[in-house]
Amino acid sequence: MEWFAWDFNHPAYFAIYADKVQDAAVEGPALAALLDLKPGSRVLDLPCGWGRLHPHLRARGLEIIGGDLSPLNLARHQADHPAPLVRLDFRALPFHTGGADGVFCAYTSWGYFATEAENLLQLSEFARVLRPGGTLLLDLAGRTYLRSLVAQGEADWLEYPEGYQERAQWSPDGRRIFTERLCQGAAFRHDIWIPTDAEIRAFLDEAGFVVARAYGGLDGRPWAEAEDRWIYRAFKQ
Ligand SMILES: C[S@@+](CC[C@H](N)C(=O)[O-])C[C@H]1O[C@@H](n2cnc3c(N)ncnc32)[C@H](O)[C@@H]1O
Repeated sequence: MEWFAWDFNHPAYFAIYADKVQDAAVEGPALAALLDLKPGSRVLDLPCGWGRLHPHLRARGLEIIGGDLSPLNLARHQADHPAPLVRLDFRALPFHTGGADGVFCAYTSWGYFATEAENLLQLSEFARVLRPGGTLLLDLAGRTYLRSLVAQGEADWLEYPEGYQERAQWSPDGRRIFTERLCQGAAFRHDIWIPTDAEIRAFLDEAGFVVARAYGGLDGRPWAEAEDRWIYRAFKQ
């Protein structure tokens, strides 16, 4: 089983990411504003997770369909924020070509696949389901910020108050971060490609997007190498 099919679909995931519930009150309105689509626009929230950002997208009058691989996340989303939801894999989206006005991809939800071809396919699928001129908001962790963060305690096991232990390290080639976690008696392993700005732009270009703006934070400040968040607003060509 691929790591992301196991890791995000375990009840411990909700304990590990408990602080993201509170964060949604800040992230949701800010990211919805950066998506910047008019009321009535059809937006695919990919991946929607447990729907923590959903109310903030709806608050802007957007029509939201959520999609995610994890049945556990989708069940929580449906219980907490009822909505049209679809179980899917990024590599083969079950949506018509050209039907969406927007794709909303929040909280470092790209780079999960083992190969560049699959990571490109995720963006190509986003492009395929958007109408020409449609908008993608791609919200990623800044690579340079992550490099210094992980370097501080690389490979050390850290104890978190949410009740889990974690250690993170870069792959020997410096392209991916491996994060191991122990929680509720289970072991988890994230393995995420953390691309450079040039790589992100090259992949967006190859998938058929034009980057309109790149932001360095939720407040919409301009992109900068050292920022913790790199947020790209791109149009389908
Ligand atoms: C870091 S969470 C972000 C969720 C949401 N965007 C948020 O901000 O709360 C990543 C999500 O991606 C989903 N996911 C992982 N791999 C996937 C895949 N191959 N296809 C679709 N969803 C996937 C996981 O189930 C998880 O809900």
